[in-house]
Amino acid sequence: MIFKHDIVIVGAGLAGLRAAVECVGQADVAVVSKVFPTRSHSGAAQGGITASLGNEEEDHWEWHLFDTVKGSDYLGDQDAIEIMVKDAPRVIYELEHLGVPFSRTTEGKIAQRYFGGHTRDYGKSPVKRACYAADRTGRVVLDTLYDQCLRHQVKFYSENYALSLIFDGKKYVGVVTYDLANGELHLLQGKAILLATGGCGRIYQTTSNGFASTGDGIHLAYQSGIPLEDMEFIQFHPTGLYPLGILVSEAARGEGGFLRNRLGERFMERYAPTVKDLAARDVVSRAILTETREGKGISGKDYVHLDLTHLGEERISERLWEIASFARIYLGIDPIYDPIPVQPTCHYVMGGIPTDVDGRVLMDEKGSIAHGLFAAGECACVSVHGANRLGCNSLLDLLVFGRRSGLAMKQAISTLDHQTPPTDALRVMEEKIKKLFTATGKEKIGDIRQGMQSLMMKRGSVFRNEEGLKAGIEEIRSLKERYKNIGAVDKRKAFNFGFMEAIELDHQLALSEVILFSALHRRESRGAHYREDFPARADRYFLKHTLVFQTPKGLQVRYKPVKITRFQPEARVY
Ligand code: FUM
Repeated sequence: MIFKHDIVIVGAGLAGLRAAVECVGQADVAVVSKVFPTRSHSGAAQGGITASLGNEEEDHWEWHLFDTVKGSDYLGDQDAIEIMVKDAPRVIYELEHLGVPFSRTTEGKIAQRYFGGHTRDYGKSPVKRACYAADRTGRVVLDTLYDQCLRHQVKFYSENYALSLIFDGKKYVGVVTYDLANGELHLLQGKAILLATGGCGRIYQTTSNGFASTGDGIHLAYQSGIPLEDMEFIQFHPTGLYPLGILVSEAARGEGGFLRNRLGERFMERYAPTVKDLAARDVVSRAILTETREGKGISGKDYVHLDLTHLGEERISERLWEIASFARIYLGIDPIYDPIPVQPTCHYVMGGIPTDVDGRVLMDEKGSIAHGLFAAGECACVSVHGANRLGCNSLLDLLVFGRRSGLAMKQAISTLDHQTPPTDALRVMEEKIKKLFTATGKEKIGDIRQGMQSLMMKRGSVFRNEEGLKAGIEEIRSLKERYKNIGAVDKRKAFNFGFMEAIELDHQLALSEVILFSALHRRESRGAHYREDFPARADRYFLKHTLVFQTPKGLQVRYKPVKITRFQPEARVY
């Protein structure tokens, strides 16, 4: 079926819903989501959202700006970061007015807590900057925004999977979706299309990301000719529940928890003498893996302990209830009495679809605009996180740039009529689907996915080197060949997840190649990208953003400059 809307938003996490809320009343808005909206991965965000409110301690947006630039290892665009951190207090009060139940101080103000890399007075000591709702911040913000969308009659296409973007030669004019409930294809026409589809953490074996985080929107843009920016920067959160990878919020360390190795040492004192366990994530993740590589993991294995036992039952129950329940349910460990086994887990992709500060998608290093196409949230690269994101800056990014994309789309559609989509848009997808449904090859989706996830852990995770990256690219290319020979996709019409997984795997394989290819070309170490063969940051050669293009001759890498307004790169010491 064909449906017409002014604005079509793909993805129902915080960026997508915040954009929708901005546009309702002045535009006819549709939100497409492959999961039921409140199951979007934003709901898994635990620890909080940053803003220099200064409710518990003195704070200023300039300090927040400095920390974010330093945390990004000077790769973040400082104009975009400034927009984000200045807007942060407004974002928090807006959420409060919409009904988000933030945790409170004894005086009734919005409570704030410590998080890694957030400091007072340009790095002197940690500062309480993260506003939170216990350890379920993403959940309550997502539910609140979803309520607002329902209140304003946003049209939801839930459990609809976006299969392709429609480009008419001049502009993006729509999206083809697969309706999971009945297997039908829909063409959603829009004057503006927003991609807000989240990250791609499921490419890795160990990840905090939900099943839906398969990079669909990132690859749809790439497939349609958009380059991908800074994809080598993949964040590993230091504390994933061992061995599952489920997030154990940094809030646990913000509340006073600390890491210990097999010898009982608080080893972060050696790696980051000033802020210790509250150093930036890339620093802590490398420290944990260095300890375990040196045989100082617990029982000689590849995990360490996160010790909360000194915090007491009341504090854990009130502020860290959810992570305590994860430890109890999945490992049978009660963090009130026993330390939690943790290991780094793939958490976030700093790179993605290049955009300007209003969510307009950029097609090249000159900043040419892809007309009609916008992106916001984790799938986009503005770039406010550069080479490494600070904790709790993600929800802020989603809300600031989700709203700004909404504003820009409203403006864009005011002058536009609906363009007729190319007549074969649906037919092309129907043929692709038919091919998958009738495939008779011998390869199994699960086997290829397993191969990809384990090779990405081995070749493209926290520690990287030339030999491993080159081998990884070859291995991914051979998995892509095997993918051409997949067979036995389930033929059911209703809720055919096998079919969806086949498409997801195609996206994941392509993005894995881009990650490894970008990482191979960045012959330095910066933020989350650590090259054992080039352990130093090399500003002279690599203070620039990577752009990877898909060309008929294969992948091509080009670069664009970083926007530096206030802070010149310095050594990053914590
Ligand atoms: O540790 C956490 O609660 C994660 C927060 C974030 O990634 O922003």
